[in-house]
Amino acid sequence: MDYKELILKLKEEQNAVLLAHYYTYPEIQDIADCLGDSLALAQYAQKTNADKIIFAGVYFMAETAKILNPDKKVLIPDAKAACSLADSCKAEDFAEFKKMYPEHKVVSYVNCSAEMKALSDVVVTSSNAVKIVESFKKDEKIIFAPDRNLGDYINKLTGRNMILWDGCCHVHNSLMAKDIVELRKKYPDAELIAHPECTNMVLQFADFIGSTTQLLAYTQKSSSKSFIVATETGILHKMQALNPDKKFIIASSSDNYKSCSCNDCQYMKLNTLEKIYNCFVSDENEIILSKEIIEKAKISILKMLELS
Ligand code: 13P
Ligand code: SF4
Repeated sequence: MDYKELILKLKEEQNAVLLAHYYTYPEIQDIADCLGDSLALAQYAQKTNADKIIFAGVYFMAETAKILNPDKKVLIPDAKAACSLADSCKAEDFAEFKKMYPEHKVVSYVNCSAEMKALSDVVVTSSNAVKIVESFKKDEKIIFAPDRNLGDYINKLTGRNMILWDGCCHVHNSLMAKDIVELRKKYPDAELIAHPECTNMVLQFADFIGSTTQLLAYTQKSSSKSFIVATETGILHKMQALNPDKKFIIASSSDNYKSCSCNDCQYMKLNTLEKIYNCFVSDENEIILSKEIIEKAKISILKMLELS
């Protein structure tokens, strides 16, 4: 079956939109109505007039779209598309932790569950985190969850001392300084660009740090002809398409990825054209959240969109 043609037809017939993150497979990225980082996808979801949203990404992203569109049908191609970072912070555990810091505001990275967002004062993404943290007064007490690497990066840039939840993304956290050093030796003219979910040990070598969209924009702006890319593999599709004359080398972990030498997020890679097609025909894997969670989580997401 030509799933691409079928999906394009069904999208029209059902007044639906397909949103996709850069880490999904190229054939999905190429037919998406919106391809973007977490912020761009949330902003698109906030404005769409579609009746149905199919979210080719991971669960927390589809939940964010649902929170912004409680009356619309939001579907995810594979309900098992979780996120190791979001899973590293269970809302009930965080609620206990928060009790130790009653005066602290909670700033949550968007890679967390709807329940976590409901416990937060404001949500941030990797593209607006510094700006939003800086919008708090200098002496504001803050807990940042769930990504300790992004939190540490923000603390360093802003001179804050936010308390950090001890979570991480298994893909970015597995990248190691020793591998980066090797790659820099092998490609001395290449710039290193990195996602802030990487550890400080990796980020210290980076020429540029940013969200997926920001990394992409940097490759277009920079005069460099080659880049070592410290994030998930999927981003290379758009980077190469927008910069056909430039060379991109994915930074992967020699320890964890010995077998395939790749840097794939297995959750993002659960999305396929066939599963997207199934969403249209059977409405399977609809995102369902309670009214209470939607109302509470919406406050912290809308605050982020307002401050972005
Ligand atoms: P971006 O918002 O930068 O696209 O990041 C999302 C993500 O899950 C990174 O691992
Ligand atoms: Fe989550 Fe990491 Fe996958 Fe991003 S790459 S969706 S943070 S598991």
